[in-house]
Amino acid sequence: MISIAIDGPSGAGKSTMAKIIAKENGFIYLDTGAMYRAFALHVLNNNYSIDEINNDIVKELYDSFSLDIQYVEDKQQMILNNENVSNRIRTPEVSLAASRIATLPAVREYFVKMQREFAKNKNVVMDGRDIGSNVLKDADVKIFLTAAVEDRARRRFEELREKGNTEVTFEEVLEDMKLRDKIDSSREIAPLTKAEDAVEINTTGLEIEQSLELIRKVIKEKLCGF
Ligand code: DC
Repeated sequence: MISIAIDGPSGAGKSTMAKIIAKENGFIYLDTGAMYRAFALHVLNNNYSIDEINNDIVKELYDSFSLDIQYVEDKQQMILNNENVSNRIRTPEVSLAASRIATLPAVREYFVKMQREFAKNKNVVMDGRDIGSNVLKDADVKIFLTAAVEDRARRRFEELREKGNTEVTFEEVLEDMKLRDKIDSSREIAPLTKAEDAVEINTTGLEIEQSLELIRKVIKEKLCGF
């Protein structure tokens, strides 16, 4: 079985690239951030504020948490307690909440286990923050995707606009991204970090196709040796 890990900060283009690479190779794609987002939504649905959440509350909340991952026309669908929340988990509020709850050991333990189970007996492309450095340490290909924070914020801002969110400003998205970068990189357990054997690709100023070409080249080198 072959596994490809794509890590990096938010907005670097991980999910866009990972989806295409998975499709081209007939692999299954798993967006691990969506799992943390679904759990963050579950926390908010239960009227907990992110500031009061701790490992004990998290463990209690697992009793009422069921997550099903389905694929419709290759698109990953997140089903939280029988509700399709794939759109609801993409709001700025859930983004920040996900980043915060993902620092808790009880949360990381639970989802890392689920992600490893998922990768068993499958060819996968998994994207996240700690896939190459922790979840799939033996991944065949490890890519660390980065881009300047302004570039990443601009992409996220345009995405939100396309989805009809006209309230949020570019400055707000940029500030949010800087805050999430800080939380994701400074947490104690499995912080966002480039695995020693990962290949770093900086997508600042690149079009999707240009970034994809760089990724395809790394995959070919790692899997075919040329
Ligand atoms: O990739 P994303 O922006 O959808 O992820 C949402 C949050 O989930 C992110 O801010 C940090 C957390 N996350 C994580 O801690 N580990 C992962 N493998 C993926 C995401």
